[in-house]
This record gives sequence, C-alpha cells and structure tokens, in this order.
Amino acid sequence: MRYAILTYGCQMNEHDSEVLGGLCEAQGYRSAPVDEADLILLNTCAVRDSAEERVRGKLGELKRLKALNPRLIIGVAGCMAQREGAELLRRHPQVDLVVGPGDLARLPELLRRVRSGQSAAALGGLGTAVASDLPRRRGRGAKAWVSISTGCDNACSYCIVPAVRGPLVSRAAAAVLEEVRGLAATGCREVVLLGQNVDSFGRDRGEEGAFARLLERVAAVEGVRRVRFTTSHPRDLDLPTLRAMAAHPNICRHLHLPAQSGSDAILARMGRGYTRDRYLDLLARARRLLGDLAVTTDLIVGFPGETEEEFGATLELVDRARFTGAFTFMFSPRPGTAAAGLPDQVPLDTKKRRLRRLMERVNFWSGQANLALVGRVEEVLAEGPSPRHPGMLAGRTGGNRLVRFPAEGGGAGRMARVEIIAARTWTLEGRVVGWE
Ligand code: SAM
Ligand code: SF4
Ligand code: F3S
Repeated sequence: MRYAILTYGCQMNEHDSEVLGGLCEAQGYRSAPVDEADLILLNTCAVRDSAEERVRGKLGELKRLKALNPRLIIGVAGCMAQREGAELLRRHPQVDLVVGPGDLARLPELLRRVRSGQSAAALGGLGTAVASDLPRRRGRGAKAWVSISTGCDNACSYCIVPAVRGPLVSRAAAAVLEEVRGLAATGCREVVLLGQNVDSFGRDRGEEGAFARLLERVAAVEGVRRVRFTTSHPRDLDLPTLRAMAAHPNICRHLHLPAQSGSDAILARMGRGYTRDRYLDLLARARRLLGDLAVTTDLIVGFPGETEEEFGATLELVDRARFTGAFTFMFSPRPGTAAAGLPDQVPLDTKKRRLRRLMERVNFWSGQANLALVGRVEEVLAEGPSPRHPGMLAGRTGGNRLVRFPAEGGGAGRMARVEIIAARTWTLEGRVVGWE
C-alpha cells in the first residue's frame, strides 16, 4: 500500500502533514509519487480563495486518476476540509474521507470505514491540544517544526483561521521540551516553534509571558544549534521575548512580524490592536536590543474601503521598516468573516495594481538587505541540494536568507560558515569558508 500527501498553506500544515505521514506509515503505507499511490491526501488551506481554488483544481485531476483506479482512496484534510465539512463529500464524489485539523489522530479509523465501503468525516476535534504521542514522519533531518499551540483566540476581521483551527490551545511546556530534546538527540540542528500567535502561548491556561520562558528553555537544550519561531504578533511581542533573543545567540536574529497594513484606519478595521507608530516603535526597540535583526512581514492590499492614500501608508511603512522580506496578499473575502460583509469591496484590478506596486517596493528592500550581506561571513545550515543547481547546496542564514553554495567538503544537515559573494532580490550566493 502506498500513499502520497500534497500540502497547501502554511507551516502548520507542513507540520500536520508530517503527522498524517506518520499515521499512514503506522498503518503499513509507504510513501510514493501521486500517480502510484493507493491513498492520496490533500492537506488543504482556506486562508484565501486562491488557496482553495488550487485544491478544487487538483480534485478535478484526481477524479481522472480515480476513474482509472477505482480502489484509490482520496482524502481531504486541513483547513478547507474543516470549512466545507461533509459538503465536500457531496460536491466531490471522488472524495472518500474528510478530516479536520483537530482530528488527525482519527485517520486510521476513517480509513477503516472507507475500506468497508462507507464515506467518512471527522470534524469535531477543534479545541484539543496537539497530541504528543502521534507518530511523525519528519521531512528534513536538520530542521524540525515543533508545534507549541494550535488555534487562535484573536478575531482579525479578515481571517478564517480561528474558525477552521479553533480557539488557542497551548501544549504543556514540558511536552514541547521533551520533543525538542528528542530531536536534538537525533541530530536535528534547528527547531522552529510554531503557533498562529506564539506570544499568546500559555494564555489559555491563564499564564502571561510564558512564551519568553519557553523560548529560553528551548534555547538551553543541549545540541540545539538554532531556534526560530513564528508567528509573532505586533500587539503581543514583549520585552522578555526580545531579551531572551538577546541572551541566547542560538536564537536566530529574525522576527516574522506581520504588519498587514500601514494605515491606522485599516488596522483598526482589521482589529489588529496596534497602530503604525506602535509597530515602528516596537521594531526600533527590537533593533536596538538585537542589532542585526532581519524582519519579515505579511501585508494585505485591498482591504474593504482601502483608499489610495491608505494604500500609500502601507508603501510608506515598507520604506520606514525596511523589511528584509514580505509576503504580500490581495484581500480575499472569506465566508463568515466580518470583513467579507464590509461595504466598499475593492475591485480586483485595483487590488492587482496595488499588489504590483507593493511587491516592487518590497523587492527593492529585500535586494538592499541582501546586498548588505555581500562580503560578510554568515552561519548557514545546509538544508539540502539546491533544486535547480546540481552540485550546489541550499541553506539559510540566521536571518532566514536563502543561500546557494558549492557542496564540496560538506553536506546537508551541517552548519557551514559561508562568505556571501553575490546577491539577488531573494537569494544569495556564497562560498564555504569552513564546515562545522
Ligand atoms: N497568525 C498569523 C498572523 O497573525 O499574522 C498568520 C495568519 S495567516 C495563516 C497568514 C497571512 O495570511 C496573514 O498574516 C495575512 O496577511 C494573510 N491573510 C489572512 N487572511 C487573509 C484574507 N482574507 N485575505 C488575504 N490575506 C489574508
Ligand atoms: Fe488570523 Fe489574526 Fe489569528 Fe493571525 S492573529 S491567525 S491573522 S485571527
Ligand atoms: Fe495555515 Fe491556511 Fe490553515 S494558512 S492555518 S493552512 S487556513
């Protein structure tokens, strides 16, 4: 029996796919390419309509595969599965099972039901903690995702995530630490702590400031060369977290701090809980404490009612903040969210034009940040072969910049000291000065 998993969406989903893979393998399945698999799972995203559109397209393709092989089992997991629920089974008869992000552990039971000729759905599990005892099929040896919480208690007016991932549920710090120790013992060099809003870690148990404490304890685990975390929230990122970063050189000098917009009026309508000035103050304070800090962000254009002037405020924020990178999105109305029902939805061609202008500005600063690294020696974790450059390795700097460099003398999973010799908008080229 062979399985394939196609993953859409964010790192939470990448992590969940590792759990789905582990569960499949515990059932006796082996990993295979899609066209050779007996079980295909789509781990889906619902954050924008475009993400769902890709899944609908893939389901169309899979319908043809299923016609050729009626024994093929097709499952839909993740956020779109949670949003559409059992309706997916009705609308797409080629789908045999639907499993929400809170119900991954029920995959074996769902597979049994499908094999006995029933269709199967499990969607009621939101609001439960990440189970520590689920098997995981980790992708890359050198770098591992570790979930610290699921769900989100915020209510950003544009966002579907709280509806499809449920309320915030934090794991016990001891469970997180045990997982990190286990990873370090098996040669993992970098752990990435994952949560929709890592700064709110522990609040569901009434704890304040628990993330900074967790971060320090993770950084102190023997053998952990690098710690990253995502996502930080500009309203909640606190001084103890910045101080923990300053105190532990193995915590990467990188913050992913989504600003969403540079306009106070839009930020208020988004329900983000900060102003442009507070965001910039926080950034200045972080840079004072941490010096060479890489800051990346998420930005949305075309939120309902966004004027040219308000969009201009976002461009201005990009110039003032000098982000080293940004994910830029056109606002996509999500069913059931507050912003979907707001008046003055922005026409698509205006959104496209704004997105292009924003990307130009973001690319400019990303290129500048890369140029500033030329001639410097950076610590890079070699993650694997560079996909399009045979003989080369690809890895990331502490600031999360992608670097390509010749593999000679070393290999994936090792730390290298790399001199940066050339910069492009999104990537760097380097030569190895020494391997760890
Ligand atoms: N929890 C993180 C946060 O608060 O920034 C990430 C949330 S979401 C998974 C990733 C990004 O998708 C958001 O930061 C936002 O920029 C974008 N996003 C969310 N909902 C959106 C929507 N309806 N339309 C366009 N972009 C959206
Ligand atoms: Fe969505 Fe806001 Fe929660 Fe992020 S913090 S997941 S944008 S509701
Ligand atoms: Fe992630 Fe998409 Fe779900 S961004 S949390 S997979 S809606």
